[in-house]
Amino acid sequence: MRKPIIVGNWKMNKTNVEAKEFIVEIESYLNGNENAEYGIAAPYTCVKTCVDNAKNLLIAGENVHFEDNGAFTGEVSVPMIEELGVTHCIIGHSERREMFNETDETVNKKIKKLFKSSNIIPILCIGETLTQFEEGKTEEVIRTQLKNALVDVCGECASKLVIAYEPIWAIGTGKSATIEIAQNSCAIVRDEIKNLYGTEVASKVRVQYGGSVKPENIKEYLAQEDIDGALIGGASLKVESFKAIIDATK
Ligand code: PGA
Repeated sequence: MRKPIIVGNWKMNKTNVEAKEFIVEIESYLNGNENAEYGIAAPYTCVKTCVDNAKNLLIAGENVHFEDNGAFTGEVSVPMIEELGVTHCIIGHSERREMFNETDETVNKKIKKLFKSSNIIPILCIGETLTQFEEGKTEEVIRTQLKNALVDVCGECASKLVIAYEPIWAIGTGKSATIEIAQNSCAIVRDEIKNLYGTEVASKVRVQYGGSVKPENIKEYLAQEDIDGALIGGASLKVESFKAIIDATK
């Protein structure tokens, strides 16, 4: 049985004061016996505040560099974020791929680095653009992105992965993928993991859907066979809507 994992992605939002208020409120709402894991991916400026105030919530980074240290102005490394206490880290979010030159190659380096030097679990993001979707290339894109991201990643590591399928046309647009599209794509993700690593690893990997997930639609996504959670942007920013997400998935 795969335990659902529901992670809010704050992106470039929240000061330390705002982060503390949110985490404290949500912690008082959770009792630790939920059927799902809940987490927040926070900007590094407030990760420590989040970790210090979290008990049941998992705290994740939103990105990390693949070198330990060096002349990489503005970047942070795996030892640095491990020291902060994050348990997960988003890798290859489409906003980083589209705006900050993240490539399948750098995604692969970051995933290998996380597995090699830490216990931090990557939340690997993949997903097609609107044009690729309209041209019927979703399956090809998913399979290629996965293959490239997981070059030289062993099966034991891969089984721990969280993979977020996020169609780019559904992110921040309010236009979420239909349940059928989301399930179908997440099934393709699992099938590609099966091709790469076999049935056992494929049965362990957790696959999230992301893209305009809200309290009103999360339950139906999670009811799908191959959807084991969600990565949530906009609806994770307000305490009330994150509580509603928890209520819908308890
Ligand atoms: P959204 O963002 O929920 O606002 O669409 C999802 C994401 O970018 O992970």
